[in-house]
Amino acid sequence: MAGGIGNASGASSGAGGPVLHIPVMLDEVVEALCPARGKTIIDGTFGAGGYSLALLDRGASVIAIDQDPTAIENGVELKQAHGDRLTLVEGRFSTLDQIARDAGHDAVDGVVLDIGVSSMQLDQAERGFSFQKDGPLDMRMGGSGPSAADIVNRTERGDLTRIIGILGEERQASRIAARIAEARQERPFTRTLELAAVVEKVLGRKSGERIHPATRTFQALRIFVNRELEELALALFAAERILKPGGRLAVVTFHSLEDRIVKQFFANRSGARGGSRHLPEAKPVSARFEQPIRGAIKASKDEAESNPRARSAKLRWGIRTDAPPLEADIDLFGLPNLKSAQTDNHA
Ligand SMILES: C[S@@+](CC[C@H](N)C(=O)[O-])C[C@H]1O[C@@H](n2cnc3c(N)ncnc32)[C@H](O)[C@@H]1O
Repeated sequence: MAGGIGNASGASSGAGGPVLHIPVMLDEVVEALCPARGKTIIDGTFGAGGYSLALLDRGASVIAIDQDPTAIENGVELKQAHGDRLTLVEGRFSTLDQIARDAGHDAVDGVVLDIGVSSMQLDQAERGFSFQKDGPLDMRMGGSGPSAADIVNRTERGDLTRIIGILGEERQASRIAARIAEARQERPFTRTLELAAVVEKVLGRKSGERIHPATRTFQALRIFVNRELEELALALFAAERILKPGGRLAVVTFHSLEDRIVKQFFANRSGARGGSRHLPEAKPVSARFEQPIRGAIKASKDEAESNPRARSAKLRWGIRTDAPPLEADIDLFGLPNLKSAQTDNHA
């Protein structure tokens, strides 16, 4: 298994064979979604198709989305086995409602998102996610937009500090950004191991340290390159628009930045806001989602023991009410303001 950024959903590699992706919290996700014959569920993060397969096995139809063309190509066998019950679409989950409408569905019974990179993406050095396998410094899940190398080579030092500090939750972000800015003057970064070495030089590495020092910097770049927080926020609004009353939304996340967005969304949409004693004039807002289980659900002890990646997983889910969707106001989440870096890099 290649070292890389936290949240591939679990992988095992047979002796030198291809990396297999083990879906995380599959039983809990299936229970939350209640798949059955006659229901249509959007799997917004198809990956290796672990969730989609389980939903198809229970008789549901699935609209499977992934922005990675390789994931969609690899879904061909599953498509052959399930025919019309599986629709495979290369696209971004932020537009999952439009994708469903284009596929002929005005409303669906479920939406599931399993956020992050897949084990296959992490394992393939040429995708550029790994700080242990040398590859081009890329990190794009889809094929377009600026790569991690573009960000590292072009972003102004202050913005780079903010990206690494905020999205990587890296306390030494300013020192790392300073060293990157110095190094790139001599030669632009092109390879993952060049960047990993620079970060390791800044932070050092104690013997026996479990986590590679470049973990947080790579995580930050991956999130920035793929606009992951914004994509997740927009996908939650899109799910609200496309779910039928009684439809279910289930989201699995792997770190606090993502989980906070899902938590805030459900808190806001479950009628918690409005009508408070501090704002007596505000009308109570009717719930858009009901949450039978309010807190985050974690992987079972057995799963966490057998699959280390499940240890950080959190599942939150809710049931859509019949109240019309609210406006998609991304300010709800207070996402980090990295606009200047985005304008420079994501033209
Ligand atoms: C953790 S894997 C999903 C694994 C899947 N649940 C399974 O059981 O095999 C996440 C997948 O989501 C895809 N992805 C990430 N962000 C996306 C986005 N904004 N739109 C569409 N797909 C995305 C990635 O390319 C990756 O294949």
